[in-house]
Amino acid sequence: MLRIGVLVSGGGTNLQAIIDGIRNGVVTNAGIEVVISNNPGAYALQRAMDNNIPAVCVSPKSFETRDEFNEALIAKIDEYHPDLIVLAGCMVVLPAELINKYANRIINIHPALIPSFCGKGFYGLHVHEAALERGVKLTGATVHFVDEGTDTGPIILQKAVPVLKGDTPEILQKRVMTEAEWKIMPQAINLIANGKVKVENGIAWIDE
Ligand code: GRF
Repeated sequence: MLRIGVLVSGGGTNLQAIIDGIRNGVVTNAGIEVVISNNPGAYALQRAMDNNIPAVCVSPKSFETRDEFNEALIAKIDEYHPDLIVLAGCMVVLPAELINKYANRIINIHPALIPSFCGKGFYGLHVHEAALERGVKLTGATVHFVDEGTDTGPIILQKAVPVLKGDTPEILQKRVMTEAEWKIMPQAINLIANGKVKVENGIAWIDE
């Protein structure tokens, strides 16, 4: 069984989609061992507790230096021996040591079709504002492995959604979440849990 550690910072709707996916069989061979937040007020922690999943906060504010925080974060993750780390709305810039230690074992969800609207500064509503400003007719979401760059790791799954006349960033964000993010996040985890994802020369391949 794939042991998953989920890192969050906010509402945790993607976490909820994973919990639901495990419960309803969309995700097999996997279980969430821990949910870790940098933000003590993250509703995602409550979602974890409601589902009897250990919920832990490791806040940078509790440490004098970034290095101490990084060390504590890595130690906390290691305690649960995860096979896969899932970034589900995690706003923390991960230390290189963690990324290297868990190479090809950390995944992230980005609310656009990478390589569009990604990289530095493209997070939250900014992504959808940029998509609307450019006038794209399709946007969507991407699940990818995490490497040391910002949104540069191997792409696992993508799903497109239409941009419609009258969309605001908020309306578009909601559509991307409901129609793309909450679907491909559990699907990607299921593929990994069942040994269907391989990375070769920086490209992820799915063996269906
Ligand atoms: C999502 O839009 C995700 O794509 C981005 O952060 C947001 C997290 O939302 N990385 P939630 O906490 O899962 O509700």
